[in-house]
Amino acid sequence: MNNTGSTQYIEVQAPSNIAFVKYWGKHGRQFPINPSISMTLENCVTTCKIAYKPSDEFHLDSYKFEGQENESFKSRIDNYLRGIMDVYPALQTLSLTIESSNSFPHSSGIASSASAFAALGYALAQIEQVDAIETRASELARLGSGSAARSIQGPYTLWGHCDHIAESSDQYAVRVTDVHPNFIDVRNTILLIETGAKAVSSTDGHALIDNHPFKHARIEQAHQNIQATLSSIKHGDWEQFGTILENEALTLHAMMMTSTPAVILMMPQTIGVMHAVRKFRQETNIPLYFTIDAGANVHLIYPASHIDKTTDFITSHLVHYCKNGQYINDKNGQGARIIHGS
Ligand code: PMV
Repeated sequence: MNNTGSTQYIEVQAPSNIAFVKYWGKHGRQFPINPSISMTLENCVTTCKIAYKPSDEFHLDSYKFEGQENESFKSRIDNYLRGIMDVYPALQTLSLTIESSNSFPHSSGIASSASAFAALGYALAQIEQVDAIETRASELARLGSGSAARSIQGPYTLWGHCDHIAESSDQYAVRVTDVHPNFIDVRNTILLIETGAKAVSSTDGHALIDNHPFKHARIEQAHQNIQATLSSIKHGDWEQFGTILENEALTLHAMMMTSTPAVILMMPQTIGVMHAVRKFRQETNIPLYFTIDAGANVHLIYPASHIDKTTDFITSHLVHYCKNGQYINDKNGQGARIIHGS
């Protein structure tokens, strides 16, 4: 760590991500009960600027979100930073001011905690000046929000231990290296069906799996879906990939709907989109598939080579399902990066 006594700055950017194989259920210190794979986004990003200087004890002087002091986020980030001091002891003698802003509307249903904690983790790893920046940043991000671990690198990352993948880890995500040309340029259009605060918090959602009657079958299935998804990305097999992608989204929601208490997050528009996408695929043979996180919004995933017909279809048949016609176009990206550092 560069410790000259004066205030130093680091500014980084990290994206959100969308899971293909879903992480649902955790244990211990933010360890996943099953491995997951996601696509790192390009446009939906958090920019995080940290000013830091030596201090007798840890202090978070201020936390601004979108240019405004935000006490509730400040207290969450303060808790997070105090909670990681055992793994990041340098924090004990730093005072920080943090500014964070998103390129997308907060609470729009985009995983803002993923990009926010990825940016914070990446900035902290840069401050520490460790060698393995990516794995360290991913580990620090994971401690804030599990899925954030997957936003440090791109275009695809794997998080969670898999028996046959030596580099896989519950601690941090690793980059998927075998990518067929068919998966080099992949688009994600996010249909905003419901915006605003989540109906079920992430922590409460993950807890639903603890005593779930299908828990063990789900873990087994996720492992199989990881192997099949990695193989589809390696061999460029969109049909196999998309079949699993949709199955994963439907399984996530099926698990929630069969939890105690039961949680129904899909809206009628969500179902409408799913049917319309399947019909379009049947009629055109264009590999347009959907996935859904813990909410009502639908993420459409498709190869850039079909962008024209897909865009026509989205604007003519799907936009009316969106709240105020809102949707966001994104694509696969490369992960976190430094903007400025001193
Ligand atoms: O990172 P968390 O705790 O917000 O969990 C995210 C869980 C899902 O978005 C539903 C799935 C995933 O793997 O991203």
